[in-house]
Amino acid sequence: MKTIRLMLIPLTLLLVACTEGPESARGFSLPEGNAEAGKAVFISYQCLACHTLQGVADNDIAQQLPKKVPLGGDVSKIKTYGELVTSVINPSHKIAPGFKREGYTDEEGQSLMRNYNDLMTVNELVDLVTFLQPQYNLKPFNRTNYPQYFP
Ligand code: HEC
Repeated sequence: MKTIRLMLIPLTLLLVACTEGPESARGFSLPEGNAEAGKAVFISYQCLACHTLQGVADNDIAQQLPKKVPLGGDVSKIKTYGELVTSVINPSHKIAPGFKREGYTDEEGQSLMRNYNDLMTVNELVDLVTFLQPQYNLKPFNRTNYPQYFP
């Protein structure tokens, strides 16, 4: 009986941890945006000063980072609208993998990404995310092919 009770403790903790709190993404939904307009936002806000994105280039923009941070491309987990919105309006929430280092973050570990929150309209943000999301390709899971075993 005691062991059962002991087992309930981690189970309860697990359930509590899984409950969505007031700061969860539950209920988050973006209105439909316009990808073409989003591309114009991407260019006009000069995201290319610090980023690369396949198919979009602007050689007139001065580079602002030691090496540009690539956006889009192959990913093993889908990039959600929520993640992309967060990357733009709260970049330090989760630093892009491999970029938590000098040149990309400050001494406090905060992202050096420019803050657009006082500049960008909500519509621009929605269009931007609509444009960016399909730039990520979900890489198919590569199964290891073991030789068939015939007994
Ligand atoms: C001054 C440089 C700078 C500018 C300008 C900039 N960024 Fe960034 N951005 C960064 C850095 C550095 C990172 C990596 C650290 C982080 O995750 O915040 C980053 C990360 C990101 C990420 C997350 C990438 C990932 O793989 O998780 C997205 C999305 C992004 N930026 C979008 C944008 C968009 C859209 C714009 C233009 C509106 C923009 N950035 C402008 C510096 C910049």
